[in-house]
Parts: sequence; structure tokens; C-alpha cells
Amino acid sequence: IKIRVQDYTGEIKEIEAPTDMNLSLMELLKANEYPVLATCGGMALCATCHVKVEEGFEKLSESGDNELDMIDTLPNAEYNSRLACQLRLNDAMDGMLVRLAADEN
Ligand code: FES
Repeated sequence: IKIRVQDYTGEIKEIEAPTDMNLSLMELLKANEYPVLATCGGMALCATCHVKVEEGFEKLSESGDNELDMIDTLPNAEYNSRLACQLRLNDAMDGMLVRLAADEN
């Protein structure tokens, strides 16, 4: 599948996302050298992987309690906020647009 990513400069790039490796979106972003610190290692505890899903949000599985609790602490969270570490790459994500948002935390 392909996912579009908007970085902090506003630039949008399309990246290839394998769905057969059990990768999270956070791991994919790091692998593509986006500035995602992932300080907590993907435990929904640091929010440095905060993204806003600008297109395709409704196709994603719902946030778990840990993710929702963390997002609730973020001053600039919006309805389309997600933690990239809590999203496993899957076919439903094809074509989605995510915007890096940890700079708004
Ligand atoms: Fe820490 Fe996602 S990597 S919350």
C-alpha cells in the first residue's frame, strides 16, 4: 500500500508501506527518516509519534484506552489525532494522509 505523509515543512510525500511485516506506522515513519523520536518505544506513553490523519481517518481501527488516555493529555489533540505506534499497517490504510503533529504537543 501507499501512505502519504506531510512533514513539518508541509511537504507531502508518498511512501511505500508493507503490510506483511507487522510494522506500526511509527516504525514506518522512522524507517523513512521522519523525525519521530518514539521515546517510549511504542508503548503509547510519549506522544512523540502523534499524527493527525487528514484523510482516511474513518477507515482506521478505533483507539485503545491507552492511546485515548495519552491523546487526552495533548493540548492540541483533535478528533483525528492518533499515536502512530498504535496503528499497525494494514490494507485499509492505503492512500491515507497523515500529518506529523508532535510539534503541536
Ligand atoms: Fe511513544 Fe507512540 S512511540 S507514544
